[in-house]
Amino acid sequence: MAKVIELDDVTKTYWMGENCVNALQGVTFSVDEGEFVSIMGPSGSGKSTCMNMIGCLDRPTSGKILISGKNTAQMNEKELSVLRNKTIGFVFQQYHLLPTMNVLENVMLPLRYQGIPRHLRKEIALEALESVELSNRILHHPSELSGGQKQRVAIARAMVTKPKIILADEPTGALDSSTGKAVLELFYKINESGTTIVIVTHDVGIGNSARRCIRILDGKVAADEAVAETKARTTVADEAVATTKARTTAADEAVAAKTAVADEAVAAGGARLTGGRRKKGEGAC
Ligand SMILES: Nc1ncnc2c1ncn2[C@@H]1O[C@H](COP(=O)(O)OP(=O)(O)O)[C@@H](O)[C@H]1O
Ligand SMILES: [Mg+2]
Repeated sequence: MAKVIELDDVTKTYWMGENCVNALQGVTFSVDEGEFVSIMGPSGSGKSTCMNMIGCLDRPTSGKILISGKNTAQMNEKELSVLRNKTIGFVFQQYHLLPTMNVLENVMLPLRYQGIPRHLRKEIALEALESVELSNRILHHPSELSGGQKQRVAIARAMVTKPKIILADEPTGALDSSTGKAVLELFYKINESGTTIVIVTHDVGIGNSARRCIRILDGKVAADEAVAETKARTTVADEAVATTKARTTAADEAVAAKTAVADEAVAAGGARLTGGRRKKGEGAC
């Protein structure tokens, strides 16, 4: 099976003035095409940072990241933007839909960057919305939707480009129990059609479809294990939604802003990939 994600000794250090945080300290793992992988670990352990690296939303301090066999270190920001748009779909805890656009427009948006004509964009987006059972809400704006509906729109937006990989960072964290279960079921369904899913959860187990769990602790892979297949999917879904409703961190916000806005900016002429909080440091801290 082809590897779609490869991380080799990846580190990430954030600098805040004189202080630094070693958010990732030598993370190595790979994910095969079609896998359903869960990344778990306590708050602050580096899960979102790891996702940002996989999603090419930020560059590592050191180490190598290959997406679909391509070494991302050798790509400029425009090339990374194209890679993201074509290969990766993102889902965040706080949905990050554009409030001024209706449901259909939100889902059509990623297709615009691929130069697909408008009538086709609409057709493809309608199909994606049908698969998340939201055909009856296409003209609503995000503020007129429930949390679960917003997340389903976000999932439709993530899958509309038929990406190889979907990255979901605590997608059920803001949802009630049964809504969270329904959202997880959608991920299982998408995975069954061959899409690789990497899902970050706060303290969740993984089930039938998520047969592998990578545990991150203090920026390192503490365990990378197969999950017993006997574990029922429903149990997992219950655990997922029981997860503490972790507050979105400033870092999460920053990243979300990047996917929605930076791609547009890059497409429009090359904005910087990362925000201003980062300062390159030298040596260990
Ligand atoms: N943009 C950033 N600037 C500075 N520190 C950050 C930034 N993003 C994350 N961190 C720090 O890196 C560590 C890992 O954060 P994060 O990856 O968000 O953890 P998790 O998603 O597991 O809760 C935390 O100590 C956090 O405060
Ligand atoms: Mg996080």
